[in-house]
Amino acid sequence: TRARITLDRDFTAGPVPRRLFGSFVEHMGRCVYTGIFEPGHPAADERGFRSDVLDLVRELGPSVVRYPGGNFVSGYAWEDGVGPREQRPVRLDGAWHTVETNAFGLHEFVDWARAAGVEVMEAVNLGTRGVEAARALVEYANHPGGTAWSDLRRRNGHEEPFDIRLWCLGNEMDGPWQMGQKTAEEYGRIATEAAKAMRLVDPTIELVACGSSNSGMPTFGAWEHTVLRHAYEYVDYVSAHAYYQEVEGDHGSFLASAVDTDHFVESVVATADAVRAAGKHRKRINLSFDEWNVWYQTGRETPDQPHVIGRDAVWREHPRIIEDEYGVTDAVVVGTLLNSLLRHGDRVKVANQAQLVNVIAPIRAEAGGPAWRQTIFWPFARTAALARGEILRPAVRSDRYEAARFGDVDLVDVAATWDEENGRVALFLAHRGLDEPADVDLTLRGWSLGRVVRSEVLDVPEGGDRWTANTQDRPDAVGLRGLDDVRVDGAGVALRLPPLSWAV
Ligand code: AHR
Repeated sequence: TRARITLDRDFTAGPVPRRLFGSFVEHMGRCVYTGIFEPGHPAADERGFRSDVLDLVRELGPSVVRYPGGNFVSGYAWEDGVGPREQRPVRLDGAWHTVETNAFGLHEFVDWARAAGVEVMEAVNLGTRGVEAARALVEYANHPGGTAWSDLRRRNGHEEPFDIRLWCLGNEMDGPWQMGQKTAEEYGRIATEAAKAMRLVDPTIELVACGSSNSGMPTFGAWEHTVLRHAYEYVDYVSAHAYYQEVEGDHGSFLASAVDTDHFVESVVATADAVRAAGKHRKRINLSFDEWNVWYQTGRETPDQPHVIGRDAVWREHPRIIEDEYGVTDAVVVGTLLNSLLRHGDRVKVANQAQLVNVIAPIRAEAGGPAWRQTIFWPFARTAALARGEILRPAVRSDRYEAARFGDVDLVDVAATWDEENGRVALFLAHRGLDEPADVDLTLRGWSLGRVVRSEVLDVPEGGDRWTANTQDRPDAVGLRGLDDVRVDGAGVALRLPPLSWAV
C-alpha cells in the first residue's frame, strides 16, 4: 500500500480551534458517580474528586467539558444540585432509569473543571423546562451579585461568578427518545426565546442550537434549516452528534466512519450557509460537534450491562451502563474522527468526545479500585497536545479500498498542523488496511526541513489482535510505541505504517 502526501506552508485552513478537543461529563451510569466523583475512594480529595482520574484527565488534555447531559439534561432541574447537600432532593432520572441523589451538581462541576484545567460548557433543559429556568441559571452562574439568584450562588459558596461562556440550548431535541422532544418549528422558537432571555442576562455568552442527533435522522438537513431560519441571529453554533460501530464484521465500513463525519459536517455547513444567504445574514454559524465517538449500540449487551434500561428494571444509583471496552480498531477509528474534525476546523469550532469516564470513555475507573487508559485515550491525548498553530490542507494520493457503506475510501487518512511558534509540523495518520504496511512519502513545501522530533504509532501489539483492549488486569496492553521506519530525505520524509495503525 502506498500514499503520497504534500504539505505546503501556504495551504492553511485557519488556526486550530482549542475547543476542538472537548469532552463530555453526563449524569449517566458511572461517569460522575464512581467516575470523577467518589468520596471515600482512597484517591479522593476532600471534595470527593478522584485524583487518579483527575491525573488521567489532565494527561488526556481536553480543553472544554460539556455538562450535565445529554439526555439527562432534558429532565433536570439544576436547582436540585445546588445548596447544602443534605437538603438536595433525590429524584428519578427518566433518561437512564436511575436514582439521582444530586450529591454532585453545578458547584462541584465548576470546582472539578478548575481542578482539571478545562472550560465548562453548560447545557440547559429545553425538554421538560424552558425559558425561565434557563434565564435563571445564567443569572445564578454569571451575574456578580445583588440579585436573588446570584446571591444564592454566593451563599452556596461561590462569591465570584462562574463566568460560563459556552451554553447548549437543550440536547438532541429532534430525538423521539428525548424528554420533551420537539418539532423543528417548536424547537426553533423555544431556542430563539431562551437565547434572547439568556443573552439579556449576559450578552457575552455563546450559544449552541441543537442540530440533528445523527446524520441518519429522517429530519436531517430539514431540521437544521428550520431551526436556523428561526434562531440564526440568536445563536453562534449548531450542534452535531455521531456515534459509530462495526456492524456484522464490516470492518471496512467501520474504519471509513470519518467519511460520514466529513459528509455530516459539510452538509450542515452548506445548510447553515444557505439559511445565511436567504436570510441576508452577515455572520456565519459554525458547528459544535458536541457528541462523537465509537459506541457499540447494538450487539454487545450483557445481562449486567443492558444497553437500554427497561421500564421494568430496578431503579438504582449510578448503574453500570455502556462501559464499552475499546480495541485497536476503535482507536484507529477515533484517530480518523479527530482527523476529520481537524480538517474541518475552519467551521467546526467546538467538539466533544462522549464521554470522559466509564461511559463510552477514554478513561475507565472502578469503584474503590484503579483507573486506566482505554486504547482510544492515545489518539485523543496526542492530537490534543500536538495539533497546534495552523491547520494545513494536505494533498493526499492514497491507494484506496472499497467500503460497503461508502464506496472508494483512502487507505491512509491524514490531517496536519503547522506550529510556527515552535517551528513544528505535526502529521496525524491512520492506516485502515488490515493486511499490509503502508509506505508513505511526505513532501514538505515552503519549509527548510530539520529533523523528525518524535514519531509514535499505535497498532496491534505482539500476540494480540485488532480487538485487543486495555483492561483492569492489562491496562497497558495497547499503547504508543516509537515508529522506527521514518527517514528524512531531501525535501521529504518517508515512513512505513504498520497495518491497522494510528501514528503521529
Ligand atoms: O452520550 C450518551 C447519550 O447519547 C447522550 O445522553 C445523548 O445525548 C446521546 O444520544
